[in-house]
Amino acid sequence: MLRRGLSLFSALYPSSLASSSSPSPRQLKEMVTKDFVNQTIAQNRVVIFSKSYCPYCKRAKDLFTTAFPGVEVKVLELDIRDDGPEIQGYLLQLTDQRTVPNIFINQKHIGGNDKLQALHKADEVRALL
Ligand SMILES: *[C@@H]1O[C@H](CO)[C@@H](O)[C@H](O)[C@H]1NC(C)=O
Repeated sequence: MLRRGLSLFSALYPSSLASSSSPSPRQLKEMVTKDFVNQTIAQNRVVIFSKSYCPYCKRAKDLFTTAFPGVEVKVLELDIRDDGPEIQGYLLQLTDQRTVPNIFINQKHIGGNDKLQALHKADEVRALL
């Protein structure tokens, strides 16, 4: 019975019983997420990892709309994406920051809304763009 269950399992998930060097489905999903996040940061001038209901995220988004209306801002709303939790987990690894908004300007990690507002008060956002 055990053997039969095991062979069914290995037929359904061959990679999970293969050599330790082949990634599991979960590891594959993580790799896809990392690659997606890296590409998004690399290919956009401004990236805001956000949640649609979060007031500090709205303030960060509003700052760009108001002060830099010509600048395209890539916003990813993690609460309405299937891969939101994976993205948030990877952002924690990458930036030591779990909270949103998590903001990047030209690949530079800025931090959250407080950091963004402080930089803007010092008129330092413009130079980063
Ligand atoms: C993503 O970027 C980080 C930081 O530059 C790097 O360490 C990592 O290897 C990259 N991962 C992928 C999957 O491209």
